[in-house]
Formats: sequence, C-alpha cells, structure tokens
Amino acid sequence: MNSELKEIVAQYDPGLPLEHAATIPSSWYTDKDFYKLELNTVFSHSWQLAARVDQVREPGQYVTSDIAGEPVVIVRGNDGELRGFFNVCRHHAAAVMTEAQGRAAQMRCPYHGWTYSLEGELKGTPDFSGVCDFDRASNGLVSLQIAEWENWVFVKLFQDPAISLEDFLGDALLSQTTDLQLKDLHWFERRHYHFDCNWKVFVDNYLDGGYHVPYLHKGLDSVLDYSNYMIENGAHYCLQWSPIVADGAEAQTGAVRKGDRALYYWIYPNFMINWYDGVMDTNLVIPRGVDQTEVIFDFYFPDVVSAGARQRNLASVEVGQRIQDEDVAICKSVQRGLNSRAYHTGRLSVRREAGEHLFHRLLHADVSHGFSLMKTD
Ligand code: FES
Ligand SMILES: [Fe+2]
Repeated sequence: MNSELKEIVAQYDPGLPLEHAATIPSSWYTDKDFYKLELNTVFSHSWQLAARVDQVREPGQYVTSDIAGEPVVIVRGNDGELRGFFNVCRHHAAAVMTEAQGRAAQMRCPYHGWTYSLEGELKGTPDFSGVCDFDRASNGLVSLQIAEWENWVFVKLFQDPAISLEDFLGDALLSQTTDLQLKDLHWFERRHYHFDCNWKVFVDNYLDGGYHVPYLHKGLDSVLDYSNYMIENGAHYCLQWSPIVADGAEAQTGAVRKGDRALYYWIYPNFMINWYDGVMDTNLVIPRGVDQTEVIFDFYFPDVVSAGARQRNLASVEVGQRIQDEDVAICKSVQRGLNSRAYHTGRLSVRREAGEHLFHRLLHADVSHGFSLMKTD
C-alpha cells in the first residue's frame, strides 16, 4: 500500500454524524490506485450477484460472468447442487466456459481440451500421460462461496470466514422481500447501460433520497410524493420509498407505475431492487474502469407469456429506459466535475442523503480493512 493511497483513504472521516459529514473525497472517484484497492477489497470480499436463479434451474445449466475482473461460472450439477467456480482452466488459465449462459453435459476448455465435470472435477486431460507428480484430484476448478436469495445467485471471491449472505442482508430485509413475493415476478428482459463515470457516481445518484427526481425526472416525479419520500438505513442496505400519487401523473409513466408505493432497495455495494406494484427491475453496477461503469438492468413482471402482458411490459421497460437516459448525462457531468481542481468534497442533505452517508461509511470500512489484508510497501 503506497503512502499516497493511505493518505487518500484517510481524507474521509467516517465518524462524523450526517449533519457534519461530507462526501468521500473526489480522488476516490478518479484515482487509479484507489480503484484497484476497491476491486481487491469492496468487490472481492462482498457478496456479488453472479446469476439469476431462472438461468440455472436444470442440471448442466450455467452462467458465466466476471467479478472484480475475475472470470466465474455458476453451474448446476447432475446432483442438483448449484456451485460456483473460478472460470479459469487449471492447465494454462484460459476461460473454460466461453458463452454467457447455456447448458452443457460437461465443461470443456476450448484451448487444449481439458474437461471438467459439472461438479468441477478434472476428468479429461488429452496427451498428458508421462507427466510426473500431477494430482488430478487436486486440479479441479477452484470453487467459490455461493448463496441463493430470492431470484438471485450470489458469490464471493475471497473465502474469508465472513458472514453468510443471510446474515449480511439481515432479518428485516429478508422478511420484507419475502412479503413482496418477489419469486412470483418472472424475468422478462435484460438491458445494458454504459455510464462514463466511476461506479460510485451511479450509486450516489441512486442514494440521494429522491433529491434529483424533481429536477431530472419529470415523468417519475409526477407519480412520486416527493415530500413524503422516506429513507431507512439497515446495516448493509438502504430502503428509499415513496407513496405513489395517481393525480396529475404524466400519462406514459402513470400507466406503468401504479399501486400504493414505490420501493427502492440498495444492497451494499452495487445491487438495487426497484419495486412497484407488479413491476420489478434490478440494477447491477459493474465497475469497468476508474471512470467507466456498466449497469445491467433486469426487468421482471408477473406475466411474461401472454401477448397483452408483453405490450404492457414493454411500455414499462421503455419508461425505465427514459429514466436511465436522463441519469446518463448527469453522471458524466458529475465525473467531469470530480476531476476538477475546484472540487474536493461536498456536504450532504440531512433530509435526503442518509443513504449516501451509509454507503460512504461502509466503503471506508472496507478499503481501510484492505490495508491489513494487502501487502504494504
Ligand atoms: S488452458 Fe485449458 S486446456 Fe489448456
Ligand atoms: Fe435518477
């Protein structure tokens, strides 16, 4: 850990209460070494979304993704167990599974044909006779910690004795999502968005307690009750919610954002669940560079089969798309400003920005903890 990086981390004081707190410093959004530190701490030591349960229901079904830049594969074995592995061949490190998802009888590396069972054991090694001291049994794919929750599969890269996913989420969140019957909502469509900003700019924007909604999202603003927008922090999540108002709703938004309330759950560090009556979308925020972010949106609805529902679902996705387009430009603008010598930190709204405050304190805890885990120089 170089001393400059240590200094950058020390610039944030996590002990200040919200009324006195400022944001994390701009260098946390622009410094390449800090970005690497985050990948090695925040993203390697936290539960990360790796697949949807609907993608891996049957034996042989698999999903590949990358987490903190490392390739992973989630696969259901012939024994019905779901497992996670580093998608890295034990021969010369090529990715074993190369499609985003699919179904296979076994996992065969495309480079030299080494073959692994669905349970990760090394089975086939062409032209490898005569190799001394090679223990096939200890050359299976390296496994990952894995856990399922609601419609999703999470993995953790670093096998520290950290808390289980359930303990991490906490009883309050688990019971709230059970009550929402999220499993009755079915996956409909996935969209990818690219933001020219650090991943935290997107998360901050999400966690500003609706502060930007009246200014940036006129359509959304017309269905939310801004003055009654609430923010509730858990240990590792923040729930922002608002009553829905039908009177005066802008037509396109009002047609697909109904019910009593809108719920917006953020789960540290980079997963969001947005819920309206009969509509859910999730956001997975993936760092792609210090100033590049990919956000994967998955849209879910109760009926994803009938033709009538399809039209309604598409109309709902379009409203979501419009809101994202409105956010893209502001995130880019913020990133540019964070690079300016005129900006270092900013203060937080006590009424609105408690979620951001929680996010910044959790980040600080993780990157500081990283000091003791990483080699220092
Ligand atoms: S790298 Fe996979 S078989 Fe050689
Ligand atoms: Fe927004």
